[in-house]
Amino acid sequence: MSGHAPEQQPAWQTLSEAAARLGRRPIATLLDDEARNRALTLDAPGMQVDFTRQRLDTAAVETLLDLAQQQGLAAQIEQLFSGVHVNTTEDRPALHTALRAEPAERPADLAAEIGQVFERLSRLAAEIRNGHRRGYTGRAFTDVVHIGIGGSHLGPELVVDALGEPAGGGPRVHFVANIDGAALHAALRTLNPQTTLFVVVSKSFATLETRVNAQSARSWFIERTADPAAVQQHFLAVSANVAAAAEFGIDPALVLPLWDWVGGRFSLWSAVGLPIALCAGPAQFMELLRGARDMDQHFRHTPLGRNAPVLMALSGIWNYNFCGAASHAVLPYARRLRLLPDYLQQLEMESNGKSVHHDGSPVGVHSMPVVWGSEGTNGQHAFHQLLHQGTRAFTADFILIASADHPYADHQRWLLANGLAQSQAMMAGQTADDPHRAVAGDKPTTSIVLPRLDAYSLGALLALYEHKVFCQGVIWNINSFDQWGVELGKRLALPIYDQLGGASAAHQDAATRRLIEHLQRN
Ligand code: F6P
Repeated sequence: MSGHAPEQQPAWQTLSEAAARLGRRPIATLLDDEARNRALTLDAPGMQVDFTRQRLDTAAVETLLDLAQQQGLAAQIEQLFSGVHVNTTEDRPALHTALRAEPAERPADLAAEIGQVFERLSRLAAEIRNGHRRGYTGRAFTDVVHIGIGGSHLGPELVVDALGEPAGGGPRVHFVANIDGAALHAALRTLNPQTTLFVVVSKSFATLETRVNAQSARSWFIERTADPAAVQQHFLAVSANVAAAAEFGIDPALVLPLWDWVGGRFSLWSAVGLPIALCAGPAQFMELLRGARDMDQHFRHTPLGRNAPVLMALSGIWNYNFCGAASHAVLPYARRLRLLPDYLQQLEMESNGKSVHHDGSPVGVHSMPVVWGSEGTNGQHAFHQLLHQGTRAFTADFILIASADHPYADHQRWLLANGLAQSQAMMAGQTADDPHRAVAGDKPTTSIVLPRLDAYSLGALLALYEHKVFCQGVIWNINSFDQWGVELGKRLALPIYDQLGGASAAHQDAATRRLIEHLQRN
């Protein structure tokens, strides 16, 4: 990957000029151009994406597409799918798309292995769901405790939560990620060890939080069953480090493998998605993959100007780099997508929160800003005040679901009315004699509309964001697939752990030492 700094491309300068020109044009007036509106409304698998409330005219879109072309986006999309080592610092491909490809479309050297893992996953999930695989006393599993963090947690929890109640007799799934013992305690408090299955998910099987939680869960289990051998019936793992999982005491036959070519935050499509198959059934998990696969096809084969992830990425670049947006709000108008902002925080910020190019030279423009958000309409009664009258520029995605799956039709109508009203208010604003009541409006937002929230459209939605992240990494010429920044804190925690236990903290900086002493005194 020998790319260029984006600001060195001719399109960058033209975009700065376009931003100065369009900065004087209220977004509302851009909507008068019907041809522009058609160009900014895209149909993609499982959804429509509407960019018409972005501060973009057709000339600006053309120049953003020029920038994409100058940064070699089309070729790099092909490289992503064909297994080029796009993760340059770890010298690996990022082949999460192979997991959801049709078997015949998977890379030849991986196809058999991927197929076998999906077969094992489906069989295991079916056996647990139908009671063929049971706990050590012969009782069926009613509860699954998923232990994992980051990419080994956020995706599965989001999907399990979004797909709703366990379907067709699936077990309840409880997620434990935080090393705070309160998380494990809350999950285990009411559970019966005889009917509880633990799934330890960790690509490395070395992550502190997961190791500590898994060890405590195993102790909890053995203390109550007095039968260490039963661990083998009650613990499964998903890991690229099968040896470490076996050493922990998990039967290697019950360790589903993961590969180094699947990044943690892109791993929900692999065996990391086991809790989804357990809770919603293997068929639903396959539907999720099908939605993502259709989005992959759209991304790979649609011209860049009609390509939803590409335009989403470019409108982000436009907002962050040319229009001063300091954050990106994710506003799903769906209770069942309430975990989407958390999931996207890892996907977007761990991927593109970088300040050097592939070759290690410093990035000369802003890369990913903060992603945040929460479910509509709750946010309206909390932070939307800042969105309407605050001083910082932002951009937002509204996610609307056309039809509901509950009996309260009136609620659904109100929910949609509120979502539409908020994006309208953010664009139109209002004038008022009293400055306290004036709303500036003119805020750029994108609306994503799903006909319904099912496994298929959810898979497509998550793949949409994954590809958006990839495209932005290409434009900024950064590696979206590593996360070296998180290592430092992990290393520093080790001596502090010992010092909190009484070891000397003499070599710590004064602030850390004082805090350690204060915590010990209290
Ligand atoms: O610390 C960050 C991170 O490495 C993430 O990238 C990853 O998803 C998470 O920790 C968990 O890692 P693992 O699956 O190896 O336990």
